[in-house]
Amino acid sequence: MSTNCMLTSMFILYIPVLLCSFHVYCADRISLRYGELIRDNETLVSPGGEFEFGFFSPSGSSGYKRYVGIWYKWDKRTVVWVANRDDPLVNSNGTFGIGTNGTLQVLDTSSRKVHWYWKDDYWCDSCTNANMTVNLKESGNLVLYYNETRLWESFENPTDTFLPRMSMMSSTMILTSWRDRDDPGIGNYTIKKDPLDVGDLNTLIIYQGNTIYWKSMKDDRLSTISDYFSMNPSGCKRRSDYDKSCIDYNVRLVMNFSGMIEVWKEKNRTWSLIQAEPRNICGVYKFCGKFGSCNPNNKLPCKCLPGFMPDVPEKWHSGDFTNGCSENNKACGDRNTFLSLKMMIREDKPQESYMVNDENECKETCLKNCECKSYSYDEQDSCQIWTQDLLNLQEEHPYGQNLSVRVAISDIGNLLSGRFYFLYEFA
Ligand SMILES: *[C@@H]1O[C@H](CO)[C@@H](O)[C@H](O)[C@H]1NC(C)=O
Ligand SMILES: *[C@@H]1O[C@H](CO)[C@@H](O)[C@H](O)[C@H]1NC(C)=O
Ligand SMILES: *[C@@H]1O[C@H](CO)[C@@H](O)[C@H](O)[C@H]1NC(C)=O
Ligand SMILES: *[C@@H]1O[C@H](CO)[C@@H](O)[C@H](O)[C@H]1NC(C)=O
Ligand SMILES: *[C@@H]1O[C@H](CO)[C@@H](O)[C@H](O)[C@H]1NC(C)=O
Ligand SMILES: *[C@@H]1O[C@H](CO)[C@@H](O)[C@H](O)[C@H]1NC(C)=O
Ligand SMILES: *[C@@H]1O[C@H](CO)[C@@H](O)[C@H](O)[C@H]1NC(C)=O
Ligand SMILES: *[C@@H]1O[C@H](CO)[C@@H](O)[C@H](O)[C@H]1NC(C)=O
Ligand SMILES: *[C@@H]1O[C@H](CO)[C@@H](O)[C@H](O)[C@H]1NC(C)=O
Repeated sequence: MSTNCMLTSMFILYIPVLLCSFHVYCADRISLRYGELIRDNETLVSPGGEFEFGFFSPSGSSGYKRYVGIWYKWDKRTVVWVANRDDPLVNSNGTFGIGTNGTLQVLDTSSRKVHWYWKDDYWCDSCTNANMTVNLKESGNLVLYYNETRLWESFENPTDTFLPRMSMMSSTMILTSWRDRDDPGIGNYTIKKDPLDVGDLNTLIIYQGNTIYWKSMKDDRLSTISDYFSMNPSGCKRRSDYDKSCIDYNVRLVMNFSGMIEVWKEKNRTWSLIQAEPRNICGVYKFCGKFGSCNPNNKLPCKCLPGFMPDVPEKWHSGDFTNGCSENNKACGDRNTFLSLKMMIREDKPQESYMVNDENECKETCLKNCECKSYSYDEQDSCQIWTQDLLNLQEEHPYGQNLSVRVAISDIGNLLSGRFYFLYEFA
């Protein structure tokens, strides 16, 4: 019997009418031993009552579909983990427990079909099942133990939600969105650490397994996401799940089915959205393509820089901007000038960077190099040179910088009247 059952048993001394029947008084179990089951109408509850584990149907889902998952006990609609994401039961004959071969499993007892299971080639294939237990921790972590050893935990196999004290290491920091609002199946968006970023700080949202949909940058703050979670503050050991001292509020990070990564914070049992990325259409990676500039406040968010034309006009005019824009004439040599723009360059590092004495030196450096497509000079005498196509340009962004884009004089005609900061309209 679980600890809770034993506690309940003690009441029997005082209230003899009550019996410790599992179904009636021990519903708030925190753990499950080998041989014990969670039925469709039963749950595990974490010791402090924050989280609950069991069968559920997503609110709004059509038809009778039963999933096994973890949610906030005080907010049953907010599900933080799902076992059988893509394989719901369609009746109420499901059970969850430790199977005969030591697996965790979700079983339809009427058809004997296993809808989800976990089994790894762990070190103790010959473990006595009798020494296995499943615990729901106050942190929301479901843990399978063999004696004191953790064999499996939901925190290392997240679905679409990060909770405080989950590991933020590259290998486990992968969340996959639900398929839709009421369908926990594998969806279109995955968030993970950028494998090319050695610092392990940047985050990517990947669309359908192969397209970058969003990339974090410094001002998005998600690059330092662990701050939100007090990931491993000193004195907070991941394993001591009963020690709540390192979290004083609820926070969760969700890879939403809509493609947004969201940070939600709870106060007085109400969730508020404190951050979402991409925060507008211009945050979507390469939304306007090369040499396209994005303005989220415009009806048509993308336009080509002056002197540039859409690569594939039919697509561009139908609202697909991904092909971007090209110069009318290849800019190189004396018949060139620079467009001075105030722009945000999202997630696009310059290919070269120099210290110079003044802006003119930066400009000359660019002019001398036919490969140079644009430069940016700042007051600290730093000269940045882009030899590759400019991507992810955004207007009217608080972090905008001065950017000079090389164009052929013949291409911009009467626009050539000194400095202008998007005073043009491009039809
Ligand atoms: C759950 O349902 C079973 C029958 O399927 C019933 O025997 C049991 O009492 C129910 N348990 C609870 C906690 O309602
Ligand atoms: C399975 O559950 C359904 C209710 O969802 C019930 O009608 C049916 O009799 C059960 N089947 C078996 C074999 O227990
Ligand atoms: C363990 O049980 C699961 C589910 O019942 C099954 O799919 C799997 O093949 C079993 N593994 C072994 C090694 O018997
Ligand atoms: C392991 O199983 C044995 C036999 O059932 C039992 O006596 C012992 O208390 C168990 N140990 C733990 C740590 O659960
Ligand atoms: C688990 O506990 C049981 C009973 O206490 C013991 O016999 C067994 O050696 C333990 N297994 C391991 C791997 O520690
Ligand atoms: C996921 O992508 C598919 C294919 O593009 C699309 O039909 C579906 O609507 C998308 N799902 C969501 C929730 O956007
Ligand atoms: C996902 O986004 C939708 C619409 O933007 C919102 O209604 C919903 O609450 C979000 N879901 C989660 C799990 O945050
Ligand atoms: C918290 O919520 C309760 C119930 O909704 C309300 O009565 C109370 O005033 C709220 N407290 C604060 C500090 O907002
Ligand atoms: C951008 O250029 C303008 C006009 O030359 C200048 O006033 C401003 O300080 C520059 N901004 C930066 C960040 O260098």
